[in-house]
Amino acid sequence: MKTDPIYIFRKTWATYQKVISNNLMFHRETLTAVRKLLDSRPGPLNVLDLGCGDATHIGKILNPGQVAEYCGCDLSPYALDVARKNLEPFGISVHLLCRDMVAVLREAPENHFDVVYSGYALHHLTTEDKQTFFTECQRTLRENGCVILVDVMLEEGEARPAYLDSYNGMVATRWKALTKHERDQVQEHIRNCDFPETPTVIQTLANNAGLTICRRLEKYTWHEAWCYFA
Ligand SMILES: C[S@@+](CC[C@H](N)C(=O)[O-])C[C@H]1O[C@@H](n2cnc3c(N)ncnc32)[C@H](O)[C@@H]1O
Repeated sequence: MKTDPIYIFRKTWATYQKVISNNLMFHRETLTAVRKLLDSRPGPLNVLDLGCGDATHIGKILNPGQVAEYCGCDLSPYALDVARKNLEPFGISVHLLCRDMVAVLREAPENHFDVVYSGYALHHLTTEDKQTFFTECQRTLRENGCVILVDVMLEEGEARPAYLDSYNGMVATRWKALTKHERDQVQEHIRNCDFPETPTVIQTLANNAGLTICRRLEKYTWHEAWCYFA
């Protein structure tokens, strides 16, 4: 189990569905802010969703008429099965890939996507792969395209061990919608797989890639939404 960084997502999707439906990671608030930004882009948009999970929220905040192409990737086949259903209104323009997001990005066509979206997945990558993420995003984005990132981020000045203690403390006391066993699994996943950065570090990686306009859209504790433009 410890050798598989996303064991919890590969093994079952049910725990994360509870996290989403109980809004434990502030999807409702962060995605409301993302919706406002997307509403200003009537499309038709080519959208790449990296670590798309079951696409519950992105499927609700994008209008089918606004999307020319939606390409989602995730390593969890369970999540993609649910995503397929959630994205039915988007018809044949949906492509779902059970693949690593960095590999998908590296093969993405140049100058193709209007929006690269990633929700709560980037923090699973190493810092080096996070840099590759932004570099490849910039390459695959069309003119006026943007990266929209929703993710957990460290507070400025906060180190990972302190984050792990505080976040897992919150899971223990506030995530009562999960069973004790589920909370234990989540906490183990966080200890093994969460490598968040501060907003400043993420902004530096985006800047290095040529994405120099960076705007915070929303923040609820460690849960943040940002957009990055060239
Ligand atoms: C916390 S879930 C987020 C799902 C969805 N984007 C959301 O915002 O609700 C993180 C997802 O990232 C996926 N993931 C993690 N690392 C990945 C990688 N390297 N490539 C593709 N998917 C990855 C996991 O399988 C999981 O479905």
